[in-house]
Amino acid sequence: MPGDEFDWEGLRAQAHAIAGRAYAPYSGYRVGAAALVDDGRVVVGCNVENAAYGVTLCAECGLVSSLHAGGAGRLTHFVCVNGDGAVIMPCGRCRQLLFEHGGPDLLVWTVSGVRPMAEVLPDAFGPDDLARA
Ligand code: THU
Repeated sequence: MPGDEFDWEGLRAQAHAIAGRAYAPYSGYRVGAAALVDDGRVVVGCNVENAAYGVTLCAECGLVSSLHAGGAGRLTHFVCVNGDGAVIMPCGRCRQLLFEHGGPDLLVWTVSGVRPMAEVLPDAFGPDDLARA
């Protein structure tokens, strides 16, 4: 468990709980994600697969959809876990998705400890690049 004052274990427990609701009949690999929002809400998501494998929704997709459905805001702390509750890394696409909604300062509990998004997705392309164009 990371060593700062934030309740990372509580957030991981919420991710593990929602992993139990995953719809993953094809891979058999459940994923749950949980994040704190800057207004104090916690948003969660689980993976939802599809017979057309390529349109699978990662857990992070559900989490971000829930973020906006609940009124938007910025993600400040994030973790995702597998069905055993072990911390896993967000896939490449979902790192981009998380960057969009938390920016470089979003804290991510990774397999190598808590790290800012700036390290998880270095030199990210993002909304600022479009604004500069
Ligand atoms: N998966 C996620 O939900 N998030 C990730 O960041 C990694 C992968 C899901 C997609 C698929 O349903 C299963 O894990 C196996 O790839």
